Amino acid sequence: VRWGTGTMVYPYARLEPRRTGTIAFGERCTVHDHAVLIAQGGFIHLGDRVSVNPFCVLYGHGGLTIGNNVLIASHVVIIPANHQFADATTPIREQGETRLGIRIEDNVWLGTRATILDGVTIGQGAIVAAGAVVTKDVPPMAIVVGVPAKVIRYRDQSGLTELPAEALT
Ligand SMILES: CC(C)(COP(=O)(O)OP(=O)(O)OC[C@H]1O[C@@H](n2cnc3c(N)ncnc32)[C@H](O)[C@@H]1OP(=O)(O)O)[C@@H](O)C(=O)NCCC(=O)NCCS
Repeated sequence: VRWGTGTMVYPYARLEPRRTGTIAFGERCTVHDHAVLIAQGGFIHLGDRVSVNPFCVLYGHGGLTIGNNVLIASHVVIIPANHQFADATTPIREQGETRLGIRIEDNVWLGTRATILDGVTIGQGAIVAAGAVVTKDVPPMAIVVGVPAKVIRYRDQSGLTELPAEALT
């Protein structure tokens, strides 16, 4: 685990950088009680001032990159992996996984109980509504709702700043 200055992990939160994974915090992040971060052989990288609220589950399998000022409401689940299931005669658990990775850019708000599936990028300033299941990329400043998540409207684009390429590596 790599720690940034001012980052606070509450006593009943759990960090599991197991199976050679890494968890890295930027500055002034907060992880509330009963949130669980499991690297699962991959990585979870958080930028500065990311808040992870109670009962969130964040995995790192294929890599989870979170930018700055990201708000993650309670009970959000982020899973950068899928089981493979093409062979109907073999148990799913024996067919391996695909691991693409998930990227969440700066200033995103994930509403409570949102679920973020593997392979997606959530663009800068976007909002994911409570209970939404994100299966595809979310454009910057979009507000998405529902299962699967769809854009209902866009926030004012003036909030958008150009993202330096190195910001999320
Ligand atoms: C996404 C959100 C911010 C949208 O707020 P808004 O812009 O004020 O949206 P509105 O209330 O005007 O709703 C717009 C439409 O989206 C629908 N909608 C809003 N939130 C929805 C949700 N979570 N799931 C499904 N549909 C939703 C509304 O029913 C409405 O549909 P309609 O046009 O057919 O009537 C808000 O609804 C939300 O989900 N907030 C998350 C709250 C939360 O998790 N708080 C935790 C604190 S960290």
